[in-house]
Amino acid sequence: MKEVKASDYSIFIGQESLQAYDFNSYKQLAILVDENTKRDCLPIFLKATNIDAILIEIPSGEEHKNLEKCQLIWNLLSSYHFDRNSLLINLGGGVVGDMGGFAASTYKRGIDFIQIPTSLLAMVDSSVGGKLGVDFAYLKNQIGVFNNPKAVLINPVFLNSLPKNQLLSGFAEVVKHALIADKRYWKEIKITPLEKMNWESIILQSVIIKNIIVTQDPLEKGERKKLNFGHTFGHAIESFYLKLGKPVLHGEAISLGMILESNLSKINNEEKLEIASFISNTFSIPKKPPLRALLEWMKSDKKNRKEKINFTLLNGIGSSIINQEFTFDELLD
Ligand SMILES: NC(=O)c1ccc[n+]([C@@H]2O[C@H](COP(=O)([O-])OP(=O)(O)OC[C@H]3O[C@@H](n4cnc5c(N)ncnc54)[C@H](O)[C@@H]3O)[C@@H](O)[C@H]2O)c1
Repeated sequence: MKEVKASDYSIFIGQESLQAYDFNSYKQLAILVDENTKRDCLPIFLKATNIDAILIEIPSGEEHKNLEKCQLIWNLLSSYHFDRNSLLINLGGGVVGDMGGFAASTYKRGIDFIQIPTSLLAMVDSSVGGKLGVDFAYLKNQIGVFNNPKAVLINPVFLNSLPKNQLLSGFAEVVKHALIADKRYWKEIKITPLEKMNWESIILQSVIIKNIIVTQDPLEKGERKKLNFGHTFGHAIESFYLKLGKPVLHGEAISLGMILESNLSKINNEEKLEIASFISNTFSIPKKPPLRALLEWMKSDKKNRKEKINFTLLNGIGSSIINQEFTFDELLD
């Protein structure tokens, strides 16, 4: 088992990670799951830990990452008289982790929670860095807080039941980590077929990259914006399809976002082609929505100001630069 130290908590990666936390130090425990992680992951977790906990189940899917489901969580915690000496265990993908972490951070002004990510996206990305929240008024993560879990326990065994499209969705964030920070990592993932990937090693490398960045800049004032590569367009693409009633996966939106944003980057054409061809051969990319519609969504993104859109772009494969601003006219050109 590997341990990566974050600011005030540890991330444990490996088969033994589920036993790395002392659950017995709490008076009461609750486990948050969705129907898929209840079926596929909960038995593995309970077998490894043997703990007694109340179960809180929410329906799976981004459309349930909202305040209504938070109320369901708060109601259950209240009805079982959970106090500040209790723990919420978020066993699931990014939706369970983001929403459970937010619900725990706001219940009685904050109770402890731990993240047990079960999707690749949650393992390599959302469980690390303390961003928590829910969607509101069609806007992604519009309501939320920064707060760290007590620990993150990552056991790659959960990936065995993860559907292939969800695995790919998480892999988009792996590609992002390589593109923004590590050319050697990019070369490694480019030559390794997905079925041959050593996920434990991939998770470790991605967690290290993300952790270094968020530890330097926990509140996203500067360096952390590097993680937004592909996401300025990506979030707009996600919102566009969500409003249309045809949601696309986060990673699918981000993969198109990375192609569009590498095209805006000051990198040579050879690298642009290398990125676009790897991404389009690996992911199922959604159809590009009209640019004007995307710009409207970008306007309401909390990272942008006035008439300028803020991007993180590449200097080259493995290196990125934050705060690259474009006006609407420049983008429409
Ligand atoms: N907090 C952050 O820093 C951060 C970063 C990136 C993304 N996010 C958020 O993460 C969310 C996306 O996360 P996600 O892709 O994990 O979505 P998700 O939580 O909806 O999980 C995807 C699907 O996989 C299922 N699933 C999860 N683990 C499984 C397993 N082991 N076996 C079988 N099925 C399993 C889930 O039930 C769900 O149907 C978005 O809401 C996004 O905004 C947050």
